[in-house]
Amino acid sequence: MSIIISPSVLSCDFGNIQHDVEMINQSQADWFHIDVMDGVFVPNISFGFPVMAAIKKHATKPLDVHIMIQNPDAYISEFKKHGADILTFHYEASTHVHRTIQAIKAEGMKAGIALNPHTPVNVLSEVIEDLDLVLIMSVNPGFGGQKFIANAINKVKELRALIDAKNPACVLEVDGGVNLETGKQLVHAGANALVAGSFVFNSGNPKETIAALKEIH
Ligand code: DX5
Ligand code: ZN
Repeated sequence: MSIIISPSVLSCDFGNIQHDVEMINQSQADWFHIDVMDGVFVPNISFGFPVMAAIKKHATKPLDVHIMIQNPDAYISEFKKHGADILTFHYEASTHVHRTIQAIKAEGMKAGIALNPHTPVNVLSEVIEDLDLVLIMSVNPGFGGQKFIANAINKVKELRALIDAKNPACVLEVDGGVNLETGKQLVHAGANALVAGSFVFNSGNPKETIAALKEIH
C-alpha cells in the first residue's frame, strides 16, 4: 500500500488558489490538507470557511481538514457544510474528546485527533478504537516551514503499536517539517500518511515533488 500524501494548502499562492488546487487535482496527491487556525489555540490566524469553500469548489479529492481552534465542538456542522471529509481536532482543545469524535461522525465525516509535540500517545488508549485518523504534529502547530522535531519518530513507533493492536484501519498521519528525508524516517517508523506544505509549494516543480513523496516506501 502506498503512502497517503496530503499537500498543505497553507503554503499555496492564495492569489491564485484555483491554479494550485488544480495542480493538486492533477498530481498523485490523495487529499487536500486544510489548516484552519483561530489565533487563540495557536499564535496565528490562517483562513476560514469562505476560503475552504473556494477550495472545495475546485477540488476533486477529499478535504483533510486540520482545525487548530479552541472549542471545536461549536463548529463541527459548519465544517461539514463547507466541504470537510475528514475533520481532525486537537486533543488539547477538547474537554470531552469522546463526545467530539462522536459528533464529527454523526455529521458523516471521518474523525481525527491531532497531538501536539508535548502530548503523549497514551492519552489515546481509550478512544483509539473510535478514531479514523491520528495526526502526530512534528512541529508546534501554527506555521508552515518550521523545523522537524525528531521525537515525533518515537511517537509514531508507539502509535503504530497501539493502532496495530486496537484499530489497524486507523490512519497514522504526520504533519510538520516533512520532506523526502524526514518522510522516509516517518514511514519506516509506521506512518502511512504525510502532510507536506512548504516542501511541496517551495519546490521548483510541486507536482514532481508530490510524486517523489508518493514513492517513499
Ligand atoms: C502547521 C500546519 C501544517 C503546515 C505544515 O501548523 O498544521 O499543516 O502547513 O507545513 P510544513 O510542511 O511547511 O511544515
Ligand atoms: Zn496541518
